[in-house]
Amino acid sequence: MSPRYPLMLDLSGRRAVVVGGGPVAARRVRGLLDADAEVVVVAPELCEDLAVMTGDAQVTWIPREYAPGDLGGAWVVQTATGDVSTDARVAAEAEASGIWCVRASDATHSPAWTPATARVDDVTVAVSAGRDPRRARAIKDRIATQLETGELPVRRFRRPRNGHVALVGGGPGDPGLITARGRRLLADADVVVVDRLAPRALLAELDPGVEVVEAGKGPQAHTMTQMEINDLLVERARAGQQVVRLKGGDPFVFGRGGEEALACAEAGVPCEVVPGVTSAVAVPEVAGIPVTHRGVARQFTVVSAHTSRRGEEPDWEGLAGLEGTLVFLMGVSQLGEIVDGLLSHGRSPDTPVALVERGTLPEQRLTPGTLATIVDIAAAQDVRSPAVIVVGEVVTLASQLASGDGRR
Ligand SMILES: C[S@@+](CC[C@H](N)C(=O)[O-])C[C@H]1O[C@@H](n2cnc3c(N)ncnc32)[C@H](O)[C@@H]1O
Repeated sequence: MSPRYPLMLDLSGRRAVVVGGGPVAARRVRGLLDADAEVVVVAPELCEDLAVMTGDAQVTWIPREYAPGDLGGAWVVQTATGDVSTDARVAAEAEASGIWCVRASDATHSPAWTPATARVDDVTVAVSAGRDPRRARAIKDRIATQLETGELPVRRFRRPRNGHVALVGGGPGDPGLITARGRRLLADADVVVVDRLAPRALLAELDPGVEVVEAGKGPQAHTMTQMEINDLLVERARAGQQVVRLKGGDPFVFGRGGEEALACAEAGVPCEVVPGVTSAVAVPEVAGIPVTHRGVARQFTVVSAHTSRRGEEPDWEGLAGLEGTLVFLMGVSQLGEIVDGLLSHGRSPDTPVALVERGTLPEQRLTPGTLATIVDIAAAQDVRSPAVIVVGEVVTLASQLASGDGRR
């Protein structure tokens, strides 16, 4: 087989004919529509996907078998009828008329074929691997994943863009629990403004030229005020930088991400929020505690135990009366108040409680007890922040669901 000549076609507004009405034809039509082509489908019947696509104004359906002359005015034709002789007739007409024809049933006699493709932002990956489409797909997937995760940085190939802020939820601590989108934005950042509880291991992967600003935000140590953080994000984006605000868990769960997004909106700075895996669910989960479980808990409530002002204490009466699981964040130093608040409003001293420290990290530790015992146990075990406090019957599942000491 002689080497093939790669080419990218601009099909926008140009006629493309697809002969065939099955799932392969449907995929071809989808690709042609993505390229903005005017698509004509020739087939007596359509599969469900293709029938939906005919609702698109750019698709015309000719509901019958292929007939010579159907390719008139086409730039490109895809034939995927499932019938080799029909595909051959279509290919012969295309050849005679000087139209590129892709034959789904017979790649070896096809003068053109579509490579395995993926799009990541403005990058199109197109791979052809001899006669082995599976190998081509595997290579394409690998490149696309590397682009998605930032392992293969897109930045170097891009032209300069306007400044932008991304509020990225980094997940509870394990660097593998950030989203692919978050990772890609990190790989593309000029400056990363990071919280203490964000997954620190990700910082080691940054290019040496990337500036890292520590925003602090420990329980007692705020290196920067919230106002200073907001101003910094806006300032840097206005200076044209790609700013990633890397936060622990999810940006909008007790993370003040909403305030940062508002500050950007008020300043007219483009801001994207990338959701993260919240510790409220993930940390109990990796310790073997599902926050809901059939027959045990139908709902869960996430509460901030941290109160910066008097009069803002949690509503203990309301919380004690709730069904299901209670999950407290920022609660280690308030453990005594949590226990008193729940006991004094009617919760049983036997209610199971678990403290999960540094969830998803190698130092993860689960400390179980009950409302009656947990304060003394926590003191004896020297339980420290960051930890999630889980109150409710679901805690008893930990011994069945977690392996060993609860670490993954
Ligand atoms: C300011 S809140 C931020 C929550 C975060 N936005 C989220 O969605 O997970 C910080 C609290 O989250 C909890 N937390 C965060 N990461 C944790 C981890 N890896 N292990 C245990 N608790 C964690 C602790 O209760 C900590 O005090």
